[in-house]
Amino acid sequence: MSEIAIVGTGYVGLTAGACFAHLGHQVICYDIDQEKIDKLSIGEIPIVEKGLETLVKEGLEENKLSFTSVPHEAVSECKVVFLCVPTPQRADGTTDISMLDSAVSLIAQFLPTNSVLVNKSTVPVGSAQKVIEKINRSDIAVVSNPEFLREGTAVDDFLKPERIIIGSENLDAAQVVAELYEKIEAPLLITDPISAETIKYTANAFLVTKLSFINSIAAVCEGVGADIADVIKGIGYDSRIGKKYMSPGPGWGGSCFPKDTKSLMHMAGQAGYDFRFLDTAVAVNEEQFDRVVKKICNAVGGDLNGKTVAVWGLTFKAGTDDLRDSPSLAVIKRLQAKGAVVKAHDPTVREHKEGIPKNVMISMEPLQACEDADAVVLLTDWEEYETIDPNKVIERLANLNLIDTRNVFNPKEWVDKGFNYQGIGR
Ligand SMILES: NC(=O)c1ccc[n+]([C@@H]2O[C@H](COP(=O)([O-])OP(=O)(O)OC[C@H]3O[C@@H](n4cnc5c(N)ncnc54)[C@H](O)[C@@H]3O)[C@@H](O)[C@H]2O)c1
Repeated sequence: MSEIAIVGTGYVGLTAGACFAHLGHQVICYDIDQEKIDKLSIGEIPIVEKGLETLVKEGLEENKLSFTSVPHEAVSECKVVFLCVPTPQRADGTTDISMLDSAVSLIAQFLPTNSVLVNKSTVPVGSAQKVIEKINRSDIAVVSNPEFLREGTAVDDFLKPERIIIGSENLDAAQVVAELYEKIEAPLLITDPISAETIKYTANAFLVTKLSFINSIAAVCEGVGADIADVIKGIGYDSRIGKKYMSPGPGWGGSCFPKDTKSLMHMAGQAGYDFRFLDTAVAVNEEQFDRVVKKICNAVGGDLNGKTVAVWGLTFKAGTDDLRDSPSLAVIKRLQAKGAVVKAHDPTVREHKEGIPKNVMISMEPLQACEDADAVVLLTDWEEYETIDPNKVIERLANLNLIDTRNVFNPKEWVDKGFNYQGIGR
């Protein structure tokens, strides 16, 4: 008999399942994707996430963790069921909760009496109440427990979170969920479900605002000749500001930020508030992709048509294989629209994958992507790019242009070798 069932074994569900098992709970993970379940059952991890494979194997070996594609097998004996299914964005910016609805429909009849159903997916404010109505069972309590893990450090973030947020109108149910985390040392906030749901959106909206802000300051730095690294250091000493999450880059993206920002803007609108501030954060971000493309265009002589651009990094950040809404792909689309030929490398991409624009040539090595290219652009800060020897890049490129959108290289080293080096705000 399992204590916890996880519905949806993606980045969030699999991490939560493996970590709860590691904390000593009996966990069963359910997914509609049979192939995924087959792989996971033998300890094969379908995603790139540091430390996750070890925990899954540990859970399987210690019989603390199991996987199934049969809904009633997953939930019929569980005290607590976590919903970790996707909540993507619809074309109009609203959140598509159809997968959440369908997961709830699939499991509702099998939930044991007095069990607790937990929304861990990021869901629009008011969703806990909607789930209560959909379940239509007075013995089932619904709790909101938003997840704040970051891909690339998901296991660490889950086991050492900065906070745990639990929202429910039913305090006993909130307590049941809180107890599952008792071995974790972190501030725990028990609140109402609407506030819990709002906290998740607020956190992401604040983070994207910081990124758009610092990218704007980086643009100012370029204009006035200041160095963004020193500017961040200088403001960071101020404890009201801090220096975390202040790195300039090619623009923000990923599986959560764009959709959660749009969703909050939409919810704000429905609640009677025009969140213009976030409109600007989004617009600044779109401009940032354009600014990166402009830098590349200028570097190759003002016209990208027919030029070859080597791209280092396709995922939205290092440490994950997730390509959803990756800034790198946003830049590539713009390059192709201007007639450039794009050759790309990413340590997690071995072949053309869904989401990567057509006609992008996938290289197996970073240097292979540079062959006869007019410029090389670093878009994702994978560690392996940082140690690349400029001399080897010189041998491959047709023209020595390096656009470093994550400011990982030492500009002097590359300039001394004859490169036209362009960073962000430096
Ligand atoms: N990825 C992140 O970094 C992150 C962080 C915090 C919160 N979230 C939120 O967590 C939720 C899940 O995100 P994710 O990135 O883990 O998604 P994901 O796409 O990686 O995984 C979701 C899984 O759910 C499965 N699934 C879909 N419908 C199902 C159903 N009816 N029953 C059972 N399984 C089903 C899919 O097959 C998939 O394996 C989203 O709401 C997301 O916004 C994500």
